[in-house]
Amino acid sequence: MSARKDNIRITIFPNKSFQKYTDVIIKQIESCEKKTFPKNEAMAVKEEVSKRTNTLLIAYYEQDIQKEQCTQKLKSTSKPNDHQRKRANKPNMTITKEIIVVGYIIYSNISSTQMPVTRILKLCVHHSFRRIGLGEKLLRNVLERMDVPKRSKADLHVDVERTVAINLYKKVGFNIIKRIVDYYEVGRDAWLMEFIN
Ligand SMILES: CC(C)(COP(=O)(O)OP(=O)(O)OC[C@H]1O[C@@H](n2cnc3c(N)ncnc32)[C@H](O)[C@@H]1OP(=O)(O)O)[C@@H](O)C(=O)NCCC(=O)NCCS
Repeated sequence: MSARKDNIRITIFPNKSFQKYTDVIIKQIESCEKKTFPKNEAMAVKEEVSKRTNTLLIAYYEQDIQKEQCTQKLKSTSKPNDHQRKRANKPNMTITKEIIVVGYIIYSNISSTQMPVTRILKLCVHHSFRRIGLGEKLLRNVLERMDVPKRSKADLHVDVERTVAINLYKKVGFNIIKRIVDYYEVGRDAWLMEFIN
């Protein structure tokens, strides 16, 4: 994968302009899930995204792909001359656009009688694009969209062993509230973290 940091954009997905890339984008996210998380934590992307309360943001870049197409066909009835043969064999270059997903965040909007809660369900950055500020950008983007802490609280669960993610959450303003024993499975605990202004 190659892209300059300033070519990477963030958008809500699915959206109209990416309609024809929907399957490809979902496949990329599923592949990232499989590579990054244990089997029982890999999210069913299509299902999660289709839930009314969930929102997915992707960090992506666009790439032009040149493809060769031999469109010219020789008529079988007449014998082609050299010029016709050359033209027939000359590949037609077509350029198509590809969307490459380099990170994503999914959050849920939980309504409550008091203040609604924005729950971060998943955050992941492709390993080749880590440490350039994308995880932080995705997370801050969600907090801004949901107007945390003015109009919404924010919280999340994170595996106590995921030090890198915990560092990121702390940097952005989340604090550890409590340890939840066996949250992921027996022997794997989570921190409940909340955004504190
Ligand atoms: C956690 C994750 C999303 C971080 O994404 P990222 O884009 O690399 O993070 P950023 O570049 O935005 O870094 C922001 C902050 O996170 C922390 N951080 C990121 N990478 C770190 C590392 N390797 N070691 C220590 N702290 C790190 C730092 O506090 C960093 O701030 P700094 O650059 O000022 O030191 C990414 O490592 C990832 O996808 N990990 C696997 C999946 C995961 O654990 N997800 C979270 C649980 S669902």
